[in-house]
Amino acid sequence: MAKWLDDAIFYEIYPQSFQDSNGDGIGDFQGIIERLDYIVGLGCNGIWLNPCFQSPFGDAGYDVEDYYLAAPRYGTNEDLRRLFKEAHKRGIHVLLDLVPGHTSTKHRWFQESMKAEKNPYTDRYIWTDDIWESPEGMGCIRGISDRSGSCVVNFFSHQPALNYGYYERNRPWQQSPEEEGPRATLEEMKNVMRFWLGMGCDGFRVDMAGSLVKNDPEGKGTIALWQKVRAFLDQEYPEAVLISEWGEPEKSLAGGFHMDFLLQFGPSHYNDLFRCEEPFFSKRGKGDASAFVKRYEESREKTKGKGFICIPSGNHDMDRLARRLKGDELKIAFAFLLSMPGAPFVYYGDEIGMRFVEGLRSVEGGYQRTGSRSPMQWDKSTNAGFSSAPRELLYIPLDESADRPDVESQMEREDSLYQEVRRLIALRKAHPALQNGGGIEFVYAPQNEYPLAYVRSAGEESLLVILNPAEREIVFECGCRLKETVYSFGKEAENCGEGIRVSPCSAGIYRI
Ligand code: NOJ
Repeated sequence: MAKWLDDAIFYEIYPQSFQDSNGDGIGDFQGIIERLDYIVGLGCNGIWLNPCFQSPFGDAGYDVEDYYLAAPRYGTNEDLRRLFKEAHKRGIHVLLDLVPGHTSTKHRWFQESMKAEKNPYTDRYIWTDDIWESPEGMGCIRGISDRSGSCVVNFFSHQPALNYGYYERNRPWQQSPEEEGPRATLEEMKNVMRFWLGMGCDGFRVDMAGSLVKNDPEGKGTIALWQKVRAFLDQEYPEAVLISEWGEPEKSLAGGFHMDFLLQFGPSHYNDLFRCEEPFFSKRGKGDASAFVKRYEESREKTKGKGFICIPSGNHDMDRLARRLKGDELKIAFAFLLSMPGAPFVYYGDEIGMRFVEGLRSVEGGYQRTGSRSPMQWDKSTNAGFSSAPRELLYIPLDESADRPDVESQMEREDSLYQEVRRLIALRKAHPALQNGGGIEFVYAPQNEYPLAYVRSAGEESLLVILNPAEREIVFECGCRLKETVYSFGKEAENCGEGIRVSPCSAGIYRI
């Protein structure tokens, strides 16, 4: 695994909404370049950039029309190369978003694949061999060309599924992953990776990574496929990094991914912490982290030594962290996110508590996700410093609230969320025990109880993290005695006869 991952902390950029440099109301590569110093200042040293390739943008770019061409609205391939260079100069690595599971219907491969005559793209997608048969249990595209067959879709109906074969096959048109069509698809995806790695990108976040081989209930076929990709990277680009949108580290890391995300879907109980009726990090103190902890421990055990389990603050598909959590709750949530193993991922704007913008009309296939994708709020100038375009030209409207948070104001205030996140990142960097590969042992996480406590360790260093989002003082026993405070938000915890006394709404990290 690439050495730079040891202390990598990522920042996710939704390019549409980060910084517009040419006043057309939409973000671009040059805008990102201009804000790289901000990312360095925050302490992040990695970027995950959402899809930035030629696309009709029916799903924000997850509907790729040309894998080898940057979307002109963001700039040229050369601009993107410059972005990699400028990032590297500042010690930042950049992951692009690879969408291997499907393309746009506008992709030239699909245009060819729709033809009735056999051609090199006939088997690039999954087609039944008769227009009157639709693939069981899956959406499909049918009746839009002369080809007699129905084409499997992977997500929205304008996203036909690329053909990597079927693990279990029970219809004649279902091909084995070893057949020519599926093999050619995989070879082409490797070429796409070669192309961008050659341009200077450092790896990929892989969209719907678990979806490639169909009829694959345990993921065995898809795992085998990713093992091939990993072998190819190890040989040609050993420093390259892969992180999967899979949400099941037992599978993805077995497939050779260096990292996997815990997500709003899947078995991880991630939502119990931040995004449910009573999130654990709410000060009401009615949440429960125990199912998350149990599942996390199981996943750690099963993936030992294979790679990282990454817990994002959010992403472009989920509600903003600040939709359910407010004020100090956000600071305590970040104390968790930035003290857990695996590389942390900060979704742009979460570090200042950007809100979910309610009531927005869907933009580019965002639907209910649109409210989490609004333009970055930099300062109090026109359009919050995002763009000089007239307000009505902004690609997604800004949060219009008078008290919307912004970077500049939060930089000026020592007690802001931004400053807390910055402190936590600096602390993580200064302590090997807190970094990505350090150990973790949960010492207090009973069902429906607060606080949550765990020991992080590396080499000689052991640090106890105690998180008490609840608005009540608690005394608990976890077999540890506090020796020295390394970090505290709120009043410090203290040793007492019955164990440790923790103050309401506090987060602390202690030597033990
Ligand atoms: C997951 C992406 O994060 C999401 O935004 C997209 O709509 C789907 N995959 C389809 O590619």
